[in-house]
Amino acid sequence: MKNLLNAVRIIGDPVLRQKARPVVFPDDVPEITGLVRFMEKVLESHDGLGLAAPQVGRSVRLFIATPDRLEELNGHVVFINPEIEPYGEMEKREEGCLSIPGIYETLSRPSMVKIKALDLRGNTFFLDVGDLGARLIQHENDHLDGILYVDRLSPIKRKLLKGKLKKLRGGESLD
Ligand code: NI
Repeated sequence: MKNLLNAVRIIGDPVLRQKARPVVFPDDVPEITGLVRFMEKVLESHDGLGLAAPQVGRSVRLFIATPDRLEELNGHVVFINPEIEPYGEMEKREEGCLSIPGIYETLSRPSMVKIKALDLRGNTFFLDVGDLGARLIQHENDHLDGILYVDRLSPIKRKLLKGKLKKLRGGESLD
């Protein structure tokens, strides 16, 4: 059994920079069922709100969330092959990421998002989400394209973070 606390890949790990591949139904189902179960344990052990598959080293288009803390997700936990459409006013919120431990930064993103995704049974669902859920979906969806939230900070903020990020495992520079 892998150590749950060491399971999360940290900035500098190349898997966080890959564009993840779509999940194929039904071929990938046995594999992703196990993956989701593992990700749920990892998320719980870190007390996080969301986790994308690349963060545990699997480059597939899937993320999970904790719906008990995000009513706006309507009970959905697993988001597979998501397609999102952010919209609405830009809104500032503080973000953090389990792959960038100890760093929290305020970032502007659209306040609302429409999402189409598949559940573990391969059924399509649609949600129109605001609040923290909208932020979480945009953050996790970025992970599937190899984007980390610090990439979206202003050049000045990124420059200020450079030293801190280099100290994290891997020492990846943002430049
Ligand atoms: Ni993250």
